[in-house]
This record gives sequence, structure tokens and C-alpha cells, in this order.
Amino acid sequence: MILSTQLLDWYSTVKRDLPWRKTGDPYAIWVSEVMLQQTQVKTVIPYYERFLDRFPSVEHLGMSNLDDVLAIWSGLGYYSRARRLWEGARYLIQNLGGIVPKDYEALVKIPGIGDYTAGAVASIAFGQRVAAIDGNVKRVVSRLLAWPEPIETTRSLRYFRESLLTWQSDQNPGDFNQALMELGAMVCKPTKPHCEACPLAQFCEGYLQGDVQHYPVKKPK
Ligand code: ADE
Repeated sequence: MILSTQLLDWYSTVKRDLPWRKTGDPYAIWVSEVMLQQTQVKTVIPYYERFLDRFPSVEHLGMSNLDDVLAIWSGLGYYSRARRLWEGARYLIQNLGGIVPKDYEALVKIPGIGDYTAGAVASIAFGQRVAAIDGNVKRVVSRLLAWPEPIETTRSLRYFRESLLTWQSDQNPGDFNQALMELGAMVCKPTKPHCEACPLAQFCEGYLQGDVQHYPVKKPK
């Protein structure tokens, strides 16, 4: 059994029925990924629904006042996320006819869209084979590889990206990426990971060495 099959089979059994998983709209997926970056799923859900009711498209968002956007965001925290989303929408209207581009390279050029969001939107909304590496995914990969170096370096990130692309195969890259996030959140937890319930234990160097907790290696203080 290969890693991606094992992961996707597991994901199909545990996958939560979340509102952004019912849409193919890249704008909606972008909004969800920005909200989810620093906020838990259950907090995000009502904000996501209100936001899309009020700003149902790139045009609605980009043509609105920033104050109105911030008002809808109120209570969700990390307000610079709302401003960056709004700036991104304005950029799309001014430069790309309000259309969300499908390639990682084009997405990452949009003001306010970073590496993670570009990867998440390209893979989830457009099925592109790219990685989406958030904190959960870094932890999962560092354990799978028993990665001996601190995870926050460019070198580590580059190696993680290459490894993920090898594992991703041609199967649904968006589901693959979301499955890894889900695994990090539900099974491969920072402390007390549930290795006995992990679909990837057989592939996990950290687990096979009996030393999962040692990873991810942190930078010396
Ligand atoms: N965290 C970041 N992106 C997510 C997604 N698409 N589903 C669930 N949790 C996430």
C-alpha cells in the first residue's frame, strides 16, 4: 500500500462535512484558508458563512469598504488577515478581471497571499499538484522523515516540499493536502500523538524508531 492511498482512504472515513468542502469556488476556498490559518475550525464556520453572505464574490469584497470587511471579521482576531484578503481582491479586480488564477506561481504574486495560501487554493480549488505546508503538516512530515534538523529553515521546507510532491502522486492533491492537515490536527498531535490510530504509522520513521515525540526538532534557543 502506498502512502497517498493509505492517507486518502483514512481521510474518506474521517472527513468532516465542512462548508468550504462543499464548494469548488476558489474565492470561497481562499477565504476559508485565510480564516483557518490562525483559528480553529469550529470558530471559523459561522464567520465563514457570514463573510460569504455579505461578500459573495471577489467583486463584492474588493468594491467594499475596508471598514465593512473589518466589521464582519470582528471577533475572529488577527485583523491583518481581513485587510490582506481585501487587498488581494482589489488586486484581482484591477489586474486579473476579478478572476482567481489557478497556478501557484500566479497566486503567490497576489498581495497578501503567501506560500501556504497559494498552495492550498491551487490544490483544493484547482486540483494542482502543489504542497500546502502549515504548522500541522510540518510536524507530520518531520515525524514521517524523522527529520533531524530544525523545521523552520529554508532547507527543511524545501526538502519537505519535495517529499510531499513525491508522496502526492496524481491522486486528488487537494484532498491529499487537507488529509495531512486533518491528520496533524486529529492524530499526529504535538504532544501525545495517537500513533496506534495513524494510517501512516508503517511509513513513519519517527514511529518506527520509537521516538516520535523527538520530532519536530526545534531550533536551539
Ligand atoms: N486548516 C487549514 N485548512 C483547512 C481545511 N481546508 N480544512 C480543515 N482544516 C484546515
